[in-house]
Amino acid sequence: MAGPLERLFYSGPGQALAGKLGLPEPPELRRGRSLPPEPVVATSLAGSTLAADTLALLGVPARPALVDDADEPPTYADRIGCIVVDAAGLRTIGELERLRAVLRPAVRALAGSGRVVMLADAEVDGLEANAVRQALDGINRTVGKELRRGATSNLISVAPGTRASDLVSTFGFLLEGRSAFVDGQAWTVGPASTSGLVTGSPPLADRIVVVTGAARGIGAQIATVAARDGARVVCIDVPAGGEALADLANHLRGTALQLDITAADAGERIAAHVASRYGTDARIHGIVHNAGITRDKLLANTDAGRWAAVLNVNLAAQLRINPVLLDGRDGGLAEEGRIVSIASTSGIAGNRGQANYAASKAGVVGLVRALAPELADRRITVNAVAPGFIETDMTAKIPFVQREVFRRTNSLGQGGRPVDVAETIGYFLDPASAGITGQVIRVCGQNLVGQ
Ligand SMILES: NC(=O)c1ccc[n+]([C@@H]2O[C@H](COP(=O)([O-])OP(=O)(O)OC[C@H]3O[C@@H](n4cnc5c(N)ncnc54)[C@H](O)[C@@H]3O)[C@@H](O)[C@H]2O)c1
Repeated sequence: MAGPLERLFYSGPGQALAGKLGLPEPPELRRGRSLPPEPVVATSLAGSTLAADTLALLGVPARPALVDDADEPPTYADRIGCIVVDAAGLRTIGELERLRAVLRPAVRALAGSGRVVMLADAEVDGLEANAVRQALDGINRTVGKELRRGATSNLISVAPGTRASDLVSTFGFLLEGRSAFVDGQAWTVGPASTSGLVTGSPPLADRIVVVTGAARGIGAQIATVAARDGARVVCIDVPAGGEALADLANHLRGTALQLDITAADAGERIAAHVASRYGTDARIHGIVHNAGITRDKLLANTDAGRWAAVLNVNLAAQLRINPVLLDGRDGGLAEEGRIVSIASTSGIAGNRGQANYAASKAGVVGLVRALAPELADRRITVNAVAPGFIETDMTAKIPFVQREVFRRTNSLGQGGRPVDVAETIGYFLDPASAGITGQVIRVCGQNLVGQ
């Protein structure tokens, strides 16, 4: 995959030169189902017990956070793995001082791949409360940029009525290495319509998860992570990807379906495959619309063919497949199921040479936001992941220097891995994530590009 320039850059002399140029060695990120090193410290700024209750449900012991109320901030005896700040109930600018006072000693002591997790109200009344609510977003994004050694900061907004049990999958995801490349992000969790705490071990045990574009890259990792989490995976790709697809499906003890998702009957064929391979009563727990293509050109050079191909694969195919899987047929999507789409930071920020791709990926965001409320009464969630620069065959096509710029221009100083996208999708697929819908999470290491 690496060309001569890239091999030179990553050789010993090349790395010495990179050091001289002030390009730091990217930190190794903690990944997988691993918790941060102890201790986790936690504090509530305005009396909410939601974060503490969630940590208790997760079985994560938390110590009180130190508060900087003197000239010199107090120092933690050792490095801390995580600080959880419950800012629900915070309403005034004056109260924001408490946030500074707990974050100051904590960010100084945060371990490599440590975590800052903030909790806030999604909806507040009044001008000052709304200003303060937005201020938390600015703090989160800034802290994400200031942290070092692979540590991250993220902000969770809780809709009215959200309980600790609704937050367990989110806290688990954020604390663990599964969220390694999710940084500076903010999203909303609401009350799940299912009652009580949903726990499955493994979380997707015996559930059917369909992944399009699964023969390689991010799709192959999505299928692998879903299988690790207990799912029976249906791996879909074009016939040209047949051998790799069959190998992966066999390896994961799933099934393979050779299918071009732009076929007019793609939805019908997916449902028929599920019904014939898993039984007519079988239903899909999650469909992951991952297949995607690029046909990059400046808009001035983009012909109708390039335009149509990208919009058809990346967006229109989903619009055709979803209604078929949602019409109640055998092998279709289950009630309380999951629809997950792959957007892109190109769709959020725009990207030179990618008008067609940005249109398709921004379209995915629009689709997810519109479909989520439509399916709320069936308790089906609809979400998207927007990857930034991820090391795959697709991005290997980008010229080396441009690729290196993409790698370096985020808070974590490196490209993401397909598994980082896959883990975020696994979080959406988790039955315990029932209160998360209509959300778009960027998996981009807090890329400087975009919102
Ligand atoms: N790699 C990145 O940095 C990045 C960034 C943002 C978004 N994404 C998105 O993530 C997804 C996966 O990207 P990737 O980097 O793994 O790409 P990739 O090119 O490595 O893999 C895409 C897979 O989709 C399959 N596919 C393409 N058209 C299809 C069709 N019509 N029917 C069925 N399968 C089809 C391909 O055969 C391939 O196996 C895409 O939607 C892409 O747009 C990737």
